[in-house]
Amino acid sequence: FPISTLHGDDSLLIESVALSEIAERFGTPTYVYSRQALTDAYHAYEQALAGRRATICYAVKANSNLGILDAFARLGAGFDIVSGGELKRVLAAGGDPAKVVFSGVGKTVDEIRLALDACIGCFNIESPEELDRLDTTARAMGKTAPIAFRVNPDVDPKTHPYISTGLKANKFGVAYSDARALYRRAATMDGIAVCGIASHIGSQLLDPAPVAEAAERVLALVKQLNADGIELDHIDIGGGMGIRYDDEILPGATRFLAPVLEVLAGRPEALHLEPGRSLIGNAGLLLTRVEFLKHGEEKHFAIVDAAMNDLARPALYDAYHAVVPVQRSDTPAQTYDVVGPICESGDFLARDRQLAVRAGDLLAILSAGAYGMTMASNYNTRPRAAEVMVDGEVCYAIRERERVEDLYANEHRLP
Ligand code: LLP
Repeated sequence: FPISTLHGDDSLLIESVALSEIAERFGTPTYVYSRQALTDAYHAYEQALAGRRATICYAVKANSNLGILDAFARLGAGFDIVSGGELKRVLAAGGDPAKVVFSGVGKTVDEIRLALDACIGCFNIESPEELDRLDTTARAMGKTAPIAFRVNPDVDPKTHPYISTGLKANKFGVAYSDARALYRRAATMDGIAVCGIASHIGSQLLDPAPVAEAAERVLALVKQLNADGIELDHIDIGGGMGIRYDDEILPGATRFLAPVLEVLAGRPEALHLEPGRSLIGNAGLLLTRVEFLKHGEEKHFAIVDAAMNDLARPALYDAYHAVVPVQRSDTPAQTYDVVGPICESGDFLARDRQLAVRAGDLLAILSAGAYGMTMASNYNTRPRAAEVMVDGEVCYAIRERERVEDLYANEHRLP
């Protein structure tokens, strides 16, 4: 993680900027990102893919801030989107539509039209019904839609059940056994141009083996398609590489991708990847201030100004995020639950952490760059946090803090 260790009276630094200064300037809670860290993460993928024809399509759902998308667009990334809204963000951030892949099980006609108008690179199709809808819409617009089927390889990614997506029981992708017939059908459709095949088996994967296994199954299918006279331009192996939240042991991009690259060695198809978390997760933190220390009968609570509406992962998945004080304190450490002000017992950000803190101190909640702000809500009419990008010695807002008035600006009293 791109923060310094704590010395003396100093504040933690992210790149060359003190977190205490960021809190002073932008207030709290605030998401803070390191441009260097996201750049390094992107370059790690590029290195792992050196010598291959490959496109890294950043999964926008992980963090869709225009500043973040802009940074990835400038690095040459493509984008994996799951809604018309995400497409509009990519376009607004200067992303290249030709490098956009559109995933998701429920694309509406309006979203399809938007994507066809923008001439995106590929629609990842997840059902026969969706194929029909796309064909009809494309023909009505006088267009041909480039497609890949997202096939469900039925492998167990060994991750949290909420974030595994490649099992038969999941709603994602078309059944492996149906794929060949679907490709044959798609090949006859006037509104459709078959161009690839895709699979994505889950998220926060620590073990590369299931991804390679999925690639093997996909490759077997590609060979059958070739036998049917269907050539593909690309194979999309999805995203899913995990990051370190706590003490996970991670292979890194090169070792994570090696088994897949080996499976696909010598193939003429280009490779597409859809990483989200591993590009931005450890490039961001959530900066928050302790409002009160509360000493209950059984537990001590550090009540902070961030809450489950800002970072839902602990409440939703019981996810672990490391918490570190931003400044050194001479108070003795105690075991705290770090909780927000929301009226739910599930409103915790961390539990049973040894922290030396006082009321008024700042805390950094680490590894919050992915699925942090994008999953934030306004529960309890809490304006969403500001977002700040750090770039060397400078930092700037990439999203202003929401104002309470913004939250009900589109609401109406009774006529
Ligand atoms: N491609 C597809 C089709 C996906 O469904 C996803 C994530 C990705 C790519 C990016 O996966 P990544 O590289 O980020 O693992 N909210 C959860 C994670 C949900 C992931 C959903 N799909 C969390 O906070 O852990």
